[in-house]
Amino acid sequence: MKVTMRVNGTERSGDVEPRVLLVDFLRTNLTLTGTHIGCDTTSCGACTVLLDGEPVKSCTLLAVQVDGRDIKTVEGLAAHGAKLSPIQVGFHEEHGLQCGFCTPGMMLVGSALLERNPNPTDDEIRWAISGNICRCTGYMNIVKAIQHAAQSQSEAAKGMGAKQAAMAGGTE
Ligand code: FES
Ligand code: FES
Repeated sequence: MKVTMRVNGTERSGDVEPRVLLVDFLRTNLTLTGTHIGCDTTSCGACTVLLDGEPVKSCTLLAVQVDGRDIKTVEGLAAHGAKLSPIQVGFHEEHGLQCGFCTPGMMLVGSALLERNPNPTDDEIRWAISGNICRCTGYMNIVKAIQHAAQSQSEAAKGMGAKQAAMAGGTE
């Protein structure tokens, strides 16, 4: 079957057997190997991607089920021209990873959380990442990394607001 989806802002197509999982389509057909396979049984969250902005485990979906939909993988986290997104900077600064196997999924879950809740509590972060397993870090620094991203996004938004206010004042 032919499937077409928007992946990280670009329309991508491929011919797949109906049984092909989304994670295999991303990794094998599109060579987006930042999406990891940990368990293949919907348990670990390593394969998490965003489907229309919501985190999903891509080992749980068939590629044909997302025909026509929007997918974001870890490769699409940084905006065009930016080396790293705030969530990636947070994981770097707070040492939110060790082996890195869980990290793409954790960062996508974290970025989706911050989209709908820009100032989460630690408990809200823990709830958001509760479907993702990390065998290395003990989770403390993952929570700190997401808080770091929340803070830098909020500071950037304040800076943008101040700039817009100054520009509005200058035109009066
Ligand atoms: Fe999909 Fe573990 S590989 S949840
Ligand atoms: Fe190794 Fe999370 S950093 S599994």
